[in-house]
Amino acid sequence: MQGKFIVIEGPDGTGKTTQARELVQALTAAGRDVEHVREPGGCPSAERIRALLVEGEPGDLLNWTEALLMNAARHELVERVIRPALDAGRWVVCDRYYHSTLAYQGGGLGLDTGRLDALIEMATGGLEPDLLLAFSLSAEDALARARAREDEEKRFEAREDSYHARVRASYAQVLRDAAARGPVAEIDASGSPEAVRERVLHAVADQFKGAL
Ligand SMILES: Nc1ncnc2c1ncn2[C@@H]1O[C@H](COP(=O)(O)OP(=O)(O)OP(=O)(O)O)[C@@H](O)[C@H]1O
Ligand SMILES: [Mg+2]
Repeated sequence: MQGKFIVIEGPDGTGKTTQARELVQALTAAGRDVEHVREPGGCPSAERIRALLVEGEPGDLLNWTEALLMNAARHELVERVIRPALDAGRWVVCDRYYHSTLAYQGGGLGLDTGRLDALIEMATGGLEPDLLLAFSLSAEDALARARAREDEEKRFEAREDSYHARVRASYAQVLRDAAARGPVAEIDASGSPEAVRERVLHAVADQFKGAL
């Protein structure tokens, strides 16, 4: 039997990484065999591409170079890890997927979405999530959480405010449009990590009866 592919998406600082960890734990505790991956990255070749993307200054890469590298990393992850795991009946929880490309490189950088769609199709072979958990949170709360986080991956965060506003607006649209392509559960990401965890587990149990 095929495994299930669950994607967590939403703007910076909404708590995706925190909740991906929680979800993997809950599924594992329920006896599922789970692969936990993130984008960009998730396997050695894609993590090397990630380093090119997240380190350094905003101007280090041309816009289409950024889009191409994102999708090169995605292709490595989909073909080397996600598809084989699903084919082996394992579950996959993925922190970000192609919706991020549409929001950041499409909405944020203004790249043509038709060409991005073609690139994404090439990278993923059309693989869609079995469930998309779409996180939403006010801009103020998301910014406060993102600021509280310590890491060295500042290339995206260093961009100007207008870029981040475009990404947020684009995310809202991309996540709304996603409902036409497959199951989407909107997750209110406000409140404590425990409260959000409950909403996530509820959505997953709802979509996959007997999973948890
Ligand atoms: N519900 C919550 N309430 C308060 N703080 C939270 C909550 N969830 C996560 N955090 C904290 O907020 C910060 C950002 O969370 P996290 O890294 O999970 O978000 P993210 O969506 O993965 O962000 P990014 O898109 O930048 O990777 C972290 O320091 C995390 O510990
Ligand atoms: Mg994260």
